Amino acid sequence: MNESLKRLGLDYVDLYLIHAPFEREQRLAQWRGLIELKKQKKARAIGVSNFSIAHLEELKAAGLAVPQANQIELHPWSQKPELVRYLADNGIAPIAYSSLVPLSTWRIAKGHDSAKTNEMRAAGEQADSPFKAIAAKYGKSEAQVLLRWAIQKGYPVLPKSTNPARIRQNADVFSFAIDDKDMTAIEKMDRGDGVAWAAGDPTHAL
Ligand SMILES: NC(=O)c1ccc[n+]([C@@H]2O[C@H](COP(=O)([O-])OP(=O)(O)OC[C@H]3O[C@@H](n4cnc5c(N)ncnc54)[C@H](OP(=O)(O)O)[C@@H]3O)[C@@H](O)[C@H]2O)c1
Repeated sequence: MNESLKRLGLDYVDLYLIHAPFEREQRLAQWRGLIELKKQKKARAIGVSNFSIAHLEELKAAGLAVPQANQIELHPWSQKPELVRYLADNGIAPIAYSSLVPLSTWRIAKGHDSAKTNEMRAAGEQADSPFKAIAAKYGKSEAQVLLRWAIQKGYPVLPKSTNPARIRQNADVFSFAIDDKDMTAIEKMDRGDGVAWAAGDPTHAL
């Protein structure tokens, strides 16, 4: 952390996260470390990423403060309703990553091809993709619909683009609202686990 702050030229970061719950033996020690960094005011807020209910319960059982945020793969095809409800009940902010997975063009780069990503990509490419239809209805892009869905669900989003026009487009999601009928239709599109990690959804880590 001290090394990162030095490289950033900062005294503190706004939010510091544990990336994934893979280090079973280290999870509690890592979380205690973040709590200490917050005490030292090197992070204004601390959280985790890819933690399941069981991982979060482990922190609670050890008598530790719950994270302020859990960054997870969240989009209409991976809605994780039980986890999202748990986060709300425990005052943990859900942060959505890979919001654009249902785009037909999502992560075309090699290395992200699996049976599941290919299946999702094929569904997105269909002419009757629900997001293409919803986007046409609001006069917005599919990406804007996906980001707007997350915002209406109350999830902060962090889409990445190397393309200036897309960066502008991704920020322009406050001039329209998805109506209740479409939000209800999207609610029914959940396909379960996320696909952003080639090794599988990390919330399943033991
Ligand atoms: N905690 C975790 O485990 C975890 C996992 C994954 C990601 N993340 C975080 O989330 C951030 C974003 O990652 P991500 O997975 O959401 O996205 P990403 O993997 O960075 O991919 C976004 C993709 O969507 C494309 N794109 C962006 N805006 C678009 C638009 N308006 N229309 C069409 N295509 C568009 C981008 O291509 P162009 O660049 O060509 O526009 C890129 O291929 C990362 O930088 C990282 O900080 C965290």
